[in-house]
Amino acid sequence: MPDFLSDADIAANGIEVAEIQGNILAGFNKDHEALVFVRFGDIGEAKAWLGHLANRVATSAEVIAFNRLFKAVQGRRNDRDDTDTVQATWINVAVTNSGLVALGEADDGMDPSFIAGMANRAPDLGDDGEAAPGGWVVGRAPDEVHAVLIIASDRRDDLHRAIAHELQRLAGHGVSVVFVQEGHTRSDDPGHEHFGYKDGISQPGLRGVHQPNPADPEQGDLGSDLLELGEFVLGYQTQPGVAVAPPPTDGYPAPAPPTEGAPSTSGPGWTKNGSYYVFRRLRQDVPSFQEGITAAAAAIGVSDDAMGAIVVGRYKSGAPLEVTGRVATDPFAPTGDDINQFEYKASDADGHVVPHASHIRKTYPRDADTPGGGEDDTQRHRLLRRGIPYGQSYRHGSPIDGPNGRDAAFPLDRGLLFQCYGRSIVDQFEFVTRLWVNNPAFTNAVDGVDGVLSSGAMDVPVGHSVTLQRFVTATGGEYFFSPSVTGLRHLAGINA
Ligand code: HEM
Repeated sequence: MPDFLSDADIAANGIEVAEIQGNILAGFNKDHEALVFVRFGDIGEAKAWLGHLANRVATSAEVIAFNRLFKAVQGRRNDRDDTDTVQATWINVAVTNSGLVALGEADDGMDPSFIAGMANRAPDLGDDGEAAPGGWVVGRAPDEVHAVLIIASDRRDDLHRAIAHELQRLAGHGVSVVFVQEGHTRSDDPGHEHFGYKDGISQPGLRGVHQPNPADPEQGDLGSDLLELGEFVLGYQTQPGVAVAPPPTDGYPAPAPPTEGAPSTSGPGWTKNGSYYVFRRLRQDVPSFQEGITAAAAAIGVSDDAMGAIVVGRYKSGAPLEVTGRVATDPFAPTGDDINQFEYKASDADGHVVPHASHIRKTYPRDADTPGGGEDDTQRHRLLRRGIPYGQSYRHGSPIDGPNGRDAAFPLDRGLLFQCYGRSIVDQFEFVTRLWVNNPAFTNAVDGVDGVLSSGAMDVPVGHSVTLQRFVTATGGEYFFSPSVTGLRHLAGINA
């Protein structure tokens, strides 16, 4: 993660970090997290609860300050394993549209998919069969969710203490708990998701918040272009370039993206300094993934390591296929600055190295030519990802009914608590899912679908196509809005 600018510089750039919730700009980055999904009872009490939270949520100013201190402490002690000296437990909150309606708020002008709720968007998200909302553990009718608390800690017992504390407060305000979901980084493979690949490498840089890289002032970490903050937080300038409106969906016409240079807005004035928050509980079928990779590797005559890199776009170590080229064994390099410093247009326009349907190329085609016009367009559909794994790691050969065995049924499953923030659900998370990930004709008619997230054929140039089954299944999810501190006070009925 790139360093942050000084508080004075961030303030001089007009960015109100003490207003913006902390998971948005800085990312909690904790090993232990809980998502507590709740429903309001008495509305006066719900407002009182939100009013208290306005004072207790971690702001971006606080999390940025913590991250600086954490880094400084590790640096002075010259000990990257020192995670004990500085610790924190953070809380953030976000509300659903039905939560806003229950509070008596008008949702005029807010994102139409936020208003609809994720379960109602199932046809456009590819959530059918096993992934249909009827089988979800959270986010399905009639168990309506009004808000979610995000609690994050460095230690598991601190997290559990914080959950217990918050549950008490909720009960005191007549707010009922719909579902609690814990997520934990994998102790056997830290930083890696359950299929074994290093995650959390590539994130957008934030202009005015992150330090420009001395080697290229347009980037934060090398390979992470600095994007306008309005792409992720309402009220700030958006990316320049000609905005292309996404095609309409079945349910409603898509809103026009903001005009060049205009600040992002969505809905009423209190949404300023807030961000849309997407949660998706994605079950990962690890044994089937491993078998699928081995079968596909045999079919086209490459090693399992190489096949995995073709499907993901990176080897398990995070080494980017575009940089290393196809090799039989995970090269475990580059792992420094080079880990994210690559583009596709000049070196790999036809996808011979990283196929167009590889996960990281589907979800962010970087500077490649796209039907929307290339890089100017791809930068308008970025996501600030904040996911964390859930469930225990899979062990090959474990008894089928044990927690590490092949998934038999809930609750012995594992996967990713996918979370992301953005200025628009329609134009970012849904755009990427609908028009890139699940669209076999993106970027070209023959490309096939995302090898990690979808099921179906994926083109592997030259002359190969592999068909992969569904390894990732949605088992819950919802759309939220994460208000500013002032926005929370507004929802609580407290006049600033
Ligand atoms: C269980 C499901 C998923 C798994 C196992 C997974 C795995 C990964 C891995 C291993 C990476 C590479 C690490 C990195 O570049 O940071 C990655 C990157 C990424 N993923 Fe996923 N992912 C999942 C779900 C999703 C979903 C649902 C989306 C959005 C619709 C998504 C969007 C992205 C994006 C935008 C990147 C960064 C691409 C780049 O900037 O080069 N992922 N994912």
